[in-house]
Amino acid sequence: MELGEAVRTAVTSRYFTDEPVTDEQLRSAFDYARFAPQGGNRQPVRFIVVRNQDARNQLAEWYRVPWKGYLEAARSGEIGVGAEQQDRVLRNADHFADHLQDVPVLVVACAHLDGVHPTDTELDRLSVVGGGSIYPAVQNFLLGCREAGIGAALTTLLCMYESQVKELLNIPDDVITAAHIAVGHRPKDFPTKLDRIGLDQVVYGDTWGASVY
Ligand SMILES: Cc1cc2nc3c(=O)[nH]c(=O)nc-3n(C[C@H](O)[C@H](O)[C@H](O)COP(=O)(O)O)c2cc1C
Repeated sequence: MELGEAVRTAVTSRYFTDEPVTDEQLRSAFDYARFAPQGGNRQPVRFIVVRNQDARNQLAEWYRVPWKGYLEAARSGEIGVGAEQQDRVLRNADHFADHLQDVPVLVVACAHLDGVHPTDTELDRLSVVGGGSIYPAVQNFLLGCREAGIGAALTTLLCMYESQVKELLNIPDDVITAAHIAVGHRPKDFPTKLDRIGLDQVVYGDTWGASVY
């Protein structure tokens, strides 16, 4: 598959069939993940492939707690959802939450905290740079799934349950959880193009707001 096609069509999959996903089918996606850039090439990212049904049940149960709160707030307008088709997105995401324990594989993206090298912790704002050593690997994994024809959904709501998730999966103290990726086969084809704002709104030349495209 051409890179551009993978990038343009790697949609968040929220419906899955019962068909199993093998370790072999995920090998290239994990292989792409390890080639992602990581600050100082410290390579802090690790993945746990969760297949155990009891563990998936527990993760799904925890996931639904913040999700149902989010859903209520989104439906009441208390928080905005950045999508024109808000109702459909929320309906799909609610189905996803209700069936998360049935998704064949949940991949937990973890990282050794001492390997993420954040350079913005002294600024008077939320620190985000540390994630830069983690999420490129996650995105490479998602693109690898797309290339393999496997659906995936990147989620972060379960990060709120980090201490419980760490205990459940025996994750060491110095390791953090950054994302939980549901992985499985899709009942429908992938879309041909994702819904995103245009280049004219994304890229500026020399100064903020000056268009390039
Ligand atoms: C940091 C991050 C966290 C996300 N967390 C969740 C989540 O907890 N649950 C979920 O259903 N989708 C989650 N998503 C998926 C987004 O909703 C999705 O990427 C976005 O709506 C674009 O949708 P599309 O992939 O269908 O184009 C997350 C995405 C990102 C980048």
